[in-house]
Amino acid sequence: MAHSIAIDSKLSKKEKYLNLLPQIQALVTGETDLIANLANTAAALYEAMGFFWVGFYQVKENQLVLAPFQGPVACTRIPFTKGVCGATYRRKETIIVEDVNKFEGHIACSSATLSEIVLPAIKNGEVIFVLDVDSDKLNDFDEIDKKYLEEVIQYLVNQIQ
Ligand code: SME
Repeated sequence: MAHSIAIDSKLSKKEKYLNLLPQIQALVTGETDLIANLANTAAALYEAMGFFWVGFYQVKENQLVLAPFQGPVACTRIPFTKGVCGATYRRKETIIVEDVNKFEGHIACSSATLSEIVLPAIKNGEVIFVLDVDSDKLNDFDEIDKKYLEEVIQYLVNQIQ
């Protein structure tokens, strides 16, 4: 098992993902504990991609509950009806928000967050957790993030028995 993540910070975003994804896959393969895999994945994404905040919310007790993350402390519980995370849960699709101040109902866990991407993890047709990545820059996420982060989620879902 890999014990450290090696990514050159001078690479382009796409090149970083291409280098990082096999390392994340190696980290999670063979481990069936979801929290252990979410924790290592959050740490790997934070370290390699330099995200401001990256973490997971699990579907639990009929709401979204904070799970492993890296970055500043965050809101612990999000109703399905609220925020970008709640909208991702309801729509069952990835949402990219270029400017959080223009997203109706956005939940500001940190006032420094200006843009974000939230992706759903779907198993047997149901959302089981979401991956949320926040940036302190406007319009920081695009289709490259969507494509590769959706792949990361697939690795995680595949490990669940
Ligand atoms: N901004 C999110 C809440 C989670 S925090 O940003 C970590 C939302 O609107 O759902």
